[in-house]
Amino acid sequence: MDLERLKSTAQAMVSPGKGILAMDESAPTCQKRFDALGIPSTQEMRREYRTMLVTTTDLGEYIGGAILFDETLRDQTLDGQSFVEILNRQEIIPGIKVDTGAKDLALRPGEKITEGLDGLDERLAEYRQLGALFAKWRAVYVIGSSFPSNACYVANAHSLARYAALCQANDIVPIVEPEILMDGSHSIEKSFIVTQQAQQLVFEALASQGVNLEGIVLKPSMVISGSDGSNRAGVDEVAIQTLRCLRSTVPPAVPGIAFLSGGQSDEEATAHLNAINNLESSLPWAVTFSYGRALQAAAMKMWGGDKSNFEAAQKVVYQRARMNGLASLGQYQPEMETA
Ligand code: 13P
Repeated sequence: MDLERLKSTAQAMVSPGKGILAMDESAPTCQKRFDALGIPSTQEMRREYRTMLVTTTDLGEYIGGAILFDETLRDQTLDGQSFVEILNRQEIIPGIKVDTGAKDLALRPGEKITEGLDGLDERLAEYRQLGALFAKWRAVYVIGSSFPSNACYVANAHSLARYAALCQANDIVPIVEPEILMDGSHSIEKSFIVTQQAQQLVFEALASQGVNLEGIVLKPSMVISGSDGSNRAGVDEVAIQTLRCLRSTVPPAVPGIAFLSGGQSDEEATAHLNAINNLESSLPWAVTFSYGRALQAAAMKMWGGDKSNFEAAQKVVYQRARMNGLASLGQYQPEMETA
């Protein structure tokens, strides 16, 4: 394990004013997004759409890393250059989603366990050869009246830690992603308790597997009210509770925290990130974004499956990347959305 290399990669992924573009939707997830817009879900269309994303001029000003799906890491853009090459030219570090998805947790109806550890060592070695310098594994926790169960917390923490150790052994920076789903009508207090518990167990498991915290990036969900709740907490409360939780669980050795957007609206995700960065004058970690939907939704709609919309869609991608880049420095203002 080359710790210096891992550290410098992790730092570059979350360098000041930059975040991560999550464009690693699996083929079925991509189909869901395309279906909603009436776009045929073929490999050609996925290639076209992703070419639009990565060829956005100056995207590297605000994006330090891009998470790809297996298909894209091996693929070429519309004009025949490899996606990895284009990203490197934009000074965006290529990364790869390596989990094989959240499956039903045995004996725990309604709960999930993420799979993909079998053969992972070999897959990581190949991904490293193909140019990926970091990886992502997403664990999913559903909030319900009687869960997450202890079984769910322990199983997902263990898998995340085994994945992270395998990544580091292959000189790949692991993005460690415990996602508490927003689905439901739970309170922000409940979200706090579950998020804190999940993160605590993840850091215990990382320590017991010997993972070096200087060579990881944490990708958490924010502490936030359930999306169906009636009296949802406002931006300031989300920021306060999210930072309070992270302060209680994340050691300062971790170089960066890059949030997922998890179904928040584009502007909500940006405003929350900005508010978190404005709470204290200095934080122990870089606090930034690793958004999928909140960076892509508007641009995908603008593209709409038509290449003649590339330029207009790229303007939208650049705008969201810029707004979130500014939010990662606490310099975002809603008025900038229309400027
Ligand atoms: P969202 O920002 O759409 O939640 O996606 C981020 C991600 O990578 C989920 O694993």
